[in-house]
Amino acid sequence: MHKETDFVVIGSGIAGLRAAIGLSQSKGQVVVLTKDRVSESNTEYAQGGVAVVLSDDDQVDLHLTDTLEAGAGLCDESAVRVLVEEGPKYITELINWGTSFDTQEGKLLFTKEAAHSRHRILHAHGDSTGREIVRGLLAHARTIPQITITPHAITLDLILEANQVVGVKYLDIESNELCYLYARSIVLATGGAGQIYAHTTNPEVATGDGMGMAYRAGARMCDMEFMQFHPTALNVVGAPNFLLSEAMRGEGGYLINSDGKRFMDKYDKREELAPRDIVSRAIVSEIRHTHSNQVYLDVTHLKSTYLRERFPKIFLTCLKYNYDITKDFIPVSPAAHYIMGGIRTDSFGRTSLAGLYAAGEVASTGVHGANRLASNSLLEGLVFGARAAEAALEDNLDKIKIKPEETVGLTSDSYQLDKNIRLQISEIMWRYVGIIRSANRLKTAISQLAELAEQPLNLVSRNYVEVAQMIARAAHYREESRGGHYREDYPARNDEEWRCHTIDQLRKDLSKELLN
Ligand code: FAD
Ligand code: SIN
Repeated sequence: MHKETDFVVIGSGIAGLRAAIGLSQSKGQVVVLTKDRVSESNTEYAQGGVAVVLSDDDQVDLHLTDTLEAGAGLCDESAVRVLVEEGPKYITELINWGTSFDTQEGKLLFTKEAAHSRHRILHAHGDSTGREIVRGLLAHARTIPQITITPHAITLDLILEANQVVGVKYLDIESNELCYLYARSIVLATGGAGQIYAHTTNPEVATGDGMGMAYRAGARMCDMEFMQFHPTALNVVGAPNFLLSEAMRGEGGYLINSDGKRFMDKYDKREELAPRDIVSRAIVSEIRHTHSNQVYLDVTHLKSTYLRERFPKIFLTCLKYNYDITKDFIPVSPAAHYIMGGIRTDSFGRTSLAGLYAAGEVASTGVHGANRLASNSLLEGLVFGARAAEAALEDNLDKIKIKPEETVGLTSDSYQLDKNIRLQISEIMWRYVGIIRSANRLKTAISQLAELAEQPLNLVSRNYVEVAQMIARAAHYREESRGGHYREDYPARNDEEWRCHTIDQLRKDLSKELLN
């Protein structure tokens, strides 16, 4: 089926919803396509909160410095400046639209997370910040008549005409129909790719589809080697890798090894609040030394009533798996959590392809550098979702309608991610492209992925393989250690040769983009 509209947004997380609201200001029609239920996204599961300078003892320049520091020399400072300076305006707007952050005596409450020099993280319902943000944004979007949200619509591919993205091809799962939707501009807000790894905090939808599609269309991809592994995901047989928020360490939680001893002081003077890459590697090292397969998060010294109120979702989820956080040590291990790389954009979400904009975790704005500061990604989705919409309105491209060949005789099964491919790739990635990398392991991954890529694959599976290959290739290319990328064969940071972004673009060799 062929349809047209003014703007298409792919994804209904924080970036997509904010972009859709922005685009609706033109009075043009905005269609949001989303893969699953409307609320199913990484945003929905965000716990710790959103970092923003709104407290009296905080300053924009401190947030800037903390973000640059965490980014390990690879942040684009101008993009970070946009984030920290515009953040307060967009969060205030969110509050005015009805999102309710936790307060005490009428004043916003701020918590602290690793590598923040101030208490600046707003949270909602204790540990359900993302759910509250999605609720507020959705409620607001639903009051705008130009916005139509279509759930269970899997976008498969971008439609290109003379180097301009003019539409998308998607499968409407409910009607089992393949649709071609044309528009002036497309905003990709498909989120991250944690599901490329066997162990991840991300929900099922986070398979990196947008990155795969954009790459195939020829967009510039950037810094795909930088994957952030969250140190504390629940590690219990039969349970998902449910996140145990960094805020638990921010509020005083400890990490202990299987001998019952705290260990972080051996690795970093910031102890439990060192940056995530350091804590994750410390856990891997501690697990090796103690011949165990996990460490423990201990919050039992904190008041039990406080823990239940501050972390109600975590409390109930752990209880479901027979762990009472007020009494028990919780088994944890690291899991893939957030990808810093993505589709290269300018500070208004413009990609290297006309008509295509990207915002949120799918994009690489340069805000996070080699390592994202905790709780900066919700803010990024909000600020850059709004800016991508502004850019699309300003560029005001003409609609170009072409008629690609119809694909006939397909069932929705032809568009599901192949289970076998997913299993094999996620194991390869965890084993060979994980927290500790080396040339040998990466070469093994690259050759095994190439074999899998040779098989006939549907578009969804092709996107998945493509993303895995991009991550492995970039990790092999960068011969140094920095932020979320650690090479045991090149353990030092090498600013002389590697203070650059890595660029991957279809049919070209990887290249370096030097920072200013
Ligand atoms: P998402 O929120 O992931 O939304 C992507 C959307 O795209 C989804 O609706 C998805 O269904 C849709 N989609 C994907 N592929 C397709 C397709 N092919 N077709 C159509 N639709 C598609 N960050 C913080 O700042 N603070 C936190 O406290 C925090 N906690 C986190 C806790 C967890 C457990 C996780 C997993 C992440 C957390 N993060 C946190 C990271 C943060 O949640 C994400 O980076 C952010 O929400 C990404 O927003 P987004 O809009 O870019 O993508
Ligand atoms: C957490 O709550 O630990 C996640 C915060 C984040 O990923 O920014």
